[in-house]
Amino acid sequence: MRTTIRTLERHKRDGRPITCLTAYDASFARLLDAADIDVILVGDSLGMVVQGHETTLPVTIEDVVYHVAAVSRGARRAMLMADLPFLGDRDVLTALEQGGALMRAGAQMVKVECDGAHADLVRRMAGAGIPVCAHLGLTPQAVHRFGGYRIQGRESAAADRMQAEARALEAAGAQCLLLEGVPEALATRIAHAARVPVIGIGASPDCDGQVLVLQDVIGLTPDPPRFARNFMPGAGGLAEAIAAYAAAVRERRFPVSGEHTFT
Ligand code: KIV
Repeated sequence: MRTTIRTLERHKRDGRPITCLTAYDASFARLLDAADIDVILVGDSLGMVVQGHETTLPVTIEDVVYHVAAVSRGARRAMLMADLPFLGDRDVLTALEQGGALMRAGAQMVKVECDGAHADLVRRMAGAGIPVCAHLGLTPQAVHRFGGYRIQGRESAAADRMQAEARALEAAGAQCLLLEGVPEALATRIAHAARVPVIGIGASPDCDGQVLVLQDVIGLTPDPPRFARNFMPGAGGLAEAIAAYAAAVRERRFPVSGEHTFT
């Protein structure tokens, strides 16, 4: 049976960690499905790990639609989430058109890199029938605004602001939150306060779920981020490494506080 937002809400209620991993093609989508991964994210990280760019900024809506369609042909069970690419949020009409294109290609939810200015956009997308995951913190499309891949929300004013943004985006209709590159204590506070599922990456073991980029998990990234883990050593192959990641998340053995998180 297909995983839906209701499944994720139930997992949050039951305290069962949600497993999420990126994929960009049908073969890996099949492997993730076989490992019982709850959510497959067709992230704009494809610009870096598939296309070889230095950032996610060159990725177009046509690129993401192409990869969502491929993944949707491989995955029968996992819920599919897809990224609204850079500048897809430039106005409401563009966000609705691009979000609609992702849903038509097979996505069940669209992830939007957000800050405090996005509540209205999220309200309009949700109102139009596009389920939204609001991505907060170290949002990679803002890498040049941040001046690098820097942890966000470290100062107390910035932490308070992010917590207020999370509340506002949830009130605007976001059905899921994703926290990236956020101090562990702040991520824990946001996850505990949210009524919707909160997925973390470089955030907190107390988030309702965890996501990583597939290439980091299977040891294909030359210089992986500190919050990631390569599950290939000791695994018999790709399927075993992906299953080991899923088990480590479900049994709360990954991420490890202090090792994969930040202060
Ligand atoms: O694009 C992506 O893969 C992402 C994850 C790193 C969360 O946004």
